[in-house]
Amino acid sequence: MPSGKSGQENHGNMSGKTRIHVKTRNEIKRERRLVDTRNHKCWGWMPGGIVVAMLFPLHGANIGTLLRTCEAAGACLAVPHYPWVPQALSKGYTISQRAPVHWAKPTSMRWLERERQRTGDEYVNIIGVELADEAIRLPNLPVRGERRTIIVLGHEQTGIPPEALEMLDMTVEIPMVGSGSTLNVAVAGSLVLYKLAGLS
Ligand SMILES: C[S@@+](CC[C@H](N)C(=O)[O-])C[C@H]1O[C@@H](n2cnc3c(N)ncnc32)[C@H](O)[C@@H]1O
Repeated sequence: MPSGKSGQENHGNMSGKTRIHVKTRNEIKRERRLVDTRNHKCWGWMPGGIVVAMLFPLHGANIGTLLRTCEAAGACLAVPHYPWVPQALSKGYTISQRAPVHWAKPTSMRWLERERQRTGDEYVNIIGVELADEAIRLPNLPVRGERRTIIVLGHEQTGIPPEALEMLDMTVEIPMVGSGSTLNVAVAGSLVLYKLAGLS
């Protein structure tokens, strides 16, 4: 059972081990205020900013989950403006802060092409998350630098379409040892985001 902070610091329990204190909601809030990133209007446009691009979504639950992870890790989420997407986002996002969403308009591919055309100081690194021969393994993915990064995720059934693969600078693969062929896309995106953001 979690115990509240009573002013007494970590004393051993009967077995001599340090007692683990699970943070309360208020403690988490206080702690976040010290490194408050919540006032940024848009993380994706800052130097070193990250946009997770779920440009080919099939299931609403996955984009809701990814939006929540993006907010936690200080990144933005790019999604196409399909009629069902706004509702899926609001269902999955129950936080009072403004949702860090970019609408990929007019189409997902046009949005990605526009990003690809940025050059000079505006140049963005576009990283695909996919099981691919050329991919680097997640543990070898460097933490973000000064450049903005777009993390492109694949469709739940068919992966990243060939025309989008052509827009990528590199791909990253999450090693797996089990018998399932792939991870859930929201899990895959979250793992890559945390590594890239330097939070894991
Ligand atoms: C369920 S998978 C797509 C299906 C798979 N490409 C296929 O054709 O059978 C959905 C997406 O999750 C991501 N993904 C899942 N597991 C991954 C892994 N181990 N490494 C990298 N990306 C992964 C990729 O973006 C992939 O396109």
